[in-house]
Amino acid sequence: MVDEAANILPGSFPMVGGDGDYSYAKNSSFQRMIIDAAKEMISESIFDKLDLKSLGFEDTCGTFKLADLGCSVGPNTFIAVQNIIEAVQTKYRADHQDYHQDSSSGLEFQVFFNDRHGNDFNTLFQTLPPSRKYFAFGVPGSFHGRLFPKSSLHFVHSSSSLNWLSKIPKEILDSRSPAWNKGSIICSGLVKGVSEAYSGHSAQFKNDTEAFLNARAHELVPGGLIVFVLFSLPNGVPMIDSNGGKLYGFLGSCLIDIATKV
Ligand SMILES: C[S@@+](CC[C@H](N)C(=O)[O-])C[C@H]1O[C@@H](n2cnc3c(N)ncnc32)[C@H](O)[C@@H]1O
Repeated sequence: MVDEAANILPGSFPMVGGDGDYSYAKNSSFQRMIIDAAKEMISESIFDKLDLKSLGFEDTCGTFKLADLGCSVGPNTFIAVQNIIEAVQTKYRADHQDYHQDSSSGLEFQVFFNDRHGNDFNTLFQTLPPSRKYFAFGVPGSFHGRLFPKSSLHFVHSSSSLNWLSKIPKEILDSRSPAWNKGSIICSGLVKGVSEAYSGHSAQFKNDTEAFLNARAHELVPGGLIVFVLFSLPNGVPMIDSNGGKLYGFLGSCLIDIATKV
């Protein structure tokens, strides 16, 4: 059953919807680069690890079901999904080349686009690629809880989304804690307590990742694949030294200047 407690979260902060100048759709080229960078690795994993025959795709019929979790609004999600479909078709053709010229023609695809309830699903649906060769569905809700029936997905993808925690780590909200992030709007990497509260070793990250993986463990068919792609920094490089960190550091100092003038 759907775990409503995990799905009803206190604040949802969706990306800017629509297709205007400030929309996510027009301001997500960095995330697009991440999808492009992962394309080859994902195709190789599908080729090497996805055993379509044991998943039941032995003849030319069957529906391959995949989900993109934290999809936001296109075009990135459409590009990611298309990359996966093409890789699965290539794999299918390679497995079935003995008995068909165009053996992918019988394989159908069902794609589930998931994001939190506040996501602009209207724009997502309106901008679905007209030439798509899949059946599209929207699935609102948090990926920290169950979203799909048991054993119903063959492939789960998520890019630039799992770094979103379900809530602000509690230490950050305590003004007496060493993790109190006074004077900064980001985890700059310069204050140890703050870095620890957000790091992959923190209780918050562990809880969220565990909840995510537990839910997917129920939803994936045995032998299915899950791929999640995250932006990260090499050990020892503080966020403030990255391009994104510099940008947000600059933005933060502007906000503090404005706040001190009010
Ligand atoms: C930076 S966007 C990435 C969008 C897209 N995957 C891409 O690569 O361009 C992160 C998305 O994750 C979504 N998200 C964050 N937490 C989520 C959750 N718990 N469940 C579902 N979606 C979530 C946000 O609403 C946002 O749309």
